[in-house]
Amino acid sequence: MRRLREKKKELAAVGYNCWLEYQKQENNMLIHEYAELCRNIVICEDSDIIKNALDELRKGIRMLLNIKPLVSAEPKIKSYLLIGTFAENNRVGSFLEADEKEKIGDEGFIIKLINTNEDRILVIAGKSPKGVLYGVFDFIRAIQTQREQSSILRIENPVNQLRILNHWDNIDGSIERGYAGESIFFKNNKIIKRLDRIRDYARILASIGINGVVINNVNVHKYETNLITSTYLPDVSRLADLFREYGIKLYLSINYASPMQIGKLTTADPLDDNVREWWDKKIEEIYKYIPDFGGFLVKADSEHRPGPFTYGRNHADGANMLARPLNKHGGIVIWRCFVYNCMQDWRDYSIDRAKAAYDNFMPLDGDFDSNVLLQIKNGPMDFQVREPVSPLFGGLQKTNQAMEFQITQEYTGQQKHLCYLVPMWKEILEFDTYAKGKNTLVKNIISGSAFNNKYGGIAGVANIGDNPNWTGLQLAQSNLYGFGRLAWNPDLTVEQITDEWIRMTYSNNEIVVDVISEMLLSSWRIYENYTSPLGIGWMVNPNHHYGPNVDGYEYDKWGTYHRADLKGIGVDRTVKTGTGYIGQYHKEVAEMYEKVETCPEELLLFFHHIPYTYRLQSGETLIQYIYNTHFKGVEQVIELKNKWLGLKGMIGEELFKHVSERLDGQIEHSKEWRDVINTYFFRKTGIKDQLGRTIY
Ligand code: GCU
Repeated sequence: MRRLREKKKELAAVGYNCWLEYQKQENNMLIHEYAELCRNIVICEDSDIIKNALDELRKGIRMLLNIKPLVSAEPKIKSYLLIGTFAENNRVGSFLEADEKEKIGDEGFIIKLINTNEDRILVIAGKSPKGVLYGVFDFIRAIQTQREQSSILRIENPVNQLRILNHWDNIDGSIERGYAGESIFFKNNKIIKRLDRIRDYARILASIGINGVVINNVNVHKYETNLITSTYLPDVSRLADLFREYGIKLYLSINYASPMQIGKLTTADPLDDNVREWWDKKIEEIYKYIPDFGGFLVKADSEHRPGPFTYGRNHADGANMLARPLNKHGGIVIWRCFVYNCMQDWRDYSIDRAKAAYDNFMPLDGDFDSNVLLQIKNGPMDFQVREPVSPLFGGLQKTNQAMEFQITQEYTGQQKHLCYLVPMWKEILEFDTYAKGKNTLVKNIISGSAFNNKYGGIAGVANIGDNPNWTGLQLAQSNLYGFGRLAWNPDLTVEQITDEWIRMTYSNNEIVVDVISEMLLSSWRIYENYTSPLGIGWMVNPNHHYGPNVDGYEYDKWGTYHRADLKGIGVDRTVKTGTGYIGQYHKEVAEMYEKVETCPEELLLFFHHIPYTYRLQSGETLIQYIYNTHFKGVEQVIELKNKWLGLKGMIGEELFKHVSERLDGQIEHSKEWRDVINTYFFRKTGIKDQLGRTIY
């Protein structure tokens, strides 16, 4: 017992509890108001999810307020918390008005304060147990962040139906693009037996409203293909059971060629009767093990993965074949749009990879079954530090769509560098596609509201592993937190999300909140400053994608994707003289990008080929801008470190040290970026830095 307590303490010190670190709150008036309601919890249900909600509530109250609440089916004192689902004739239902019940969706909750002459009751209720769980986490968050009680009284429903994490975990325990250790699900070609850590994970995810997990990599190799066989399904179903208790559905990535690899068929043609029958049976089998199985995530016909193209079929044929049998059980197909020819010859300027997703999927708009969702990466390329929004958002109108963000920092510092991605995601979600005229924002398209789609949502490529702090760099937990919060409600401001995360994770000390906010909010731009400029992308070492290498992109062995020559750099994607990519956007957006003068400067090189001597709005020439931002970026990282050092004594010692060390690494590495990039352009152009700084 003692050892367990010690162990828990040790883990807490390195950040294991993430934002569910329930520290005792100062005993001020506000906290006193909460405490008054928390001495008695009244509850009459005992489903698994409700039990977890109750556990969480007790734990939260005990640790945050230092109160051991009495749990009872009947109120024992006059002020109490009442939690549960509402029905016509139960206690919870009797406290809600008919119109309130109507407004609460399947996953929504209400927090309502009832004052009668005698009693003071705080009701946390949902239509479903899941809603209750989300309501409880919201209530706890309010105490942690010391919010005015009146501000938490409301009805809240998640905006996005699907709030899902994609784990790129392989069955051998490795994680593709994982920067925080090994998989928490798999080890040595087996599913991990001890579920404690996975339970802790499920709880963390539920606290931010995540309701789906894909547990295996989109690249499904030989062994992972077997996850849908009886060898693995019993263990997969154990995971599904566990996640279910936290309102989370389990999904699997599948290999499109499964009928050949694990069945005995000679084809995987989606229109072949035997193939269809094989999948029908397979899906029946899966649902026997997991009655609420979420469905399949599919990467097909991309980066050497098999797909319907082999048989002359298209993506709709491929997806619908799987969708029909899944539909019988309420399952869905999430079909990825990351489809492009990775063997393209980049020297051929008439081909443009940025156009690929749109070219492949636009002609199929309306051809997909109602339980198919297309999952689209936020930009047309591949999670670069800056990209325009994919034109498929707003292009597709008759198809369910989900956004794919990359939480794991593949191209943004691999969790060795601080790069808080929430501001970037927010910008993308707020982008106006003009699909139905002004104000057709990406967030409204993916929620399904803009085009009345049946399904919609957001997927994030997970950034966690078995590192004791889950994310490698502990500060990178903020990206997971922010992802969940934006998926729940994209209208939240970046500032609110950031503020919440800091208060919950560290403390309500205003200095801590201010300093860490400044650090997080500036970090994306800082990272961009010393890496790839103005939307051009990549410039990373091949394959592992870490560290600077201007010509290094592995699928372009000629080093030409950026079109850098002696005079200029950038890809002309205009309709008039370039690849025509800009034509994939709606008129208003296309017009803005088409002209150099109206193209947002941060994306200038994505859309245009620009001479190094071109003057930017700041008055700097392009080449001088590249030099300046790279020198500045390094200074800014040094500044980040100094800011952090100012928090000494206000942050737990171990975390303080851990982040300090990571920032030291970032300083060194940003210098390498600065020098490699600046030297490259100095050598290419022969133009000196106007400020006479040394370029190595
Ligand atoms: C990137 C990434 C791959 C990943 C792919 C995908 O290319 O580097 O590791 O498999 O995206 O999203 O499918």
